[in-house]
Amino acid sequence: MRRVEHLLRATANAEARHFWFRGLRAFVTPLLSLATAGRTRPLLLDCGCGTGANLEMLGTFGSAFGFDLTEIGLRIGREAGRTRLARASVAAAPFPSGAFDVVTSFDVLYSLDDGVERDAIAEMYRLLKPGGLLVCEDTEVASTFTEPPSAIDRSGQLMTVLGDRNGTDWNLGRRLYQLVVASGFTGAVVLPTKSTPIAKLCGTSTATPPRVVEESTEPSATELWSVRL
Ligand SMILES: C[S@@+](CC[C@H](N)C(=O)[O-])C[C@H]1O[C@@H](n2cnc3c(N)ncnc32)[C@H](O)[C@@H]1O
Repeated sequence: MRRVEHLLRATANAEARHFWFRGLRAFVTPLLSLATAGRTRPLLLDCGCGTGANLEMLGTFGSAFGFDLTEIGLRIGREAGRTRLARASVAAAPFPSGAFDVVTSFDVLYSLDDGVERDAIAEMYRLLKPGGLLVCEDTEVASTFTEPPSAIDRSGQLMTVLGDRNGTDWNLGRRLYQLVVASGFTGAVVLPTKSTPIAKLCGTSTATPPRVVEESTEPSATELWSVRL
């Protein structure tokens, strides 16, 4: 447990400036902006929020809450002054149905067992208001390799070395579309992007048929509205 705490504290120190986290925030900010436009006092929920560092970004669009299974991450978040944090599993989120305008999940699903994974996406669907937006990003390690090696390549190499442990699926991002469609989302959009360091790692909830937004193409409002329930 000490080791987990050490790793989480190291992550917490890097969250503000490391390229991974900055890239993620740069990628999702326009999505959140369009998702909350015109909504009165939007409510946002980050599932598997870790230390809750992303609540600062989410909080610029409305009232942002987060929950995570790991007590240590939440403790680190509270030490940093974040109060809207709860401890719970993504498979059984302690929030009312249809309560949130935006639900997010960043790099959480890949670590879950299949049953928990399905329950988690079903919960994200349940938590959203009609017309709400799920922004779900997860790992696809196969897309991270570069020649010559870069920081993201090193990250991919590390994940490969760690291997498939406890049901971990480092390439979950590749089947994110199928997962969200199977859970009832009616407008899935896959958003690979090379404009941030998290190249191709972003999938979101659903449009029919699946759409691919090419590099340097900003998603239009129409495309994003099609993601809504
Ligand atoms: C790679 S971290 C990502 C944390 C955060 N979303 C971020 O982007 O920095 C994965 C997180 O998922 C959490 N997690 C794993 N299984 C969970 C579950 N069943 N319910 C809630 N959180 C879970 C872990 O505790 C961890 O904080």
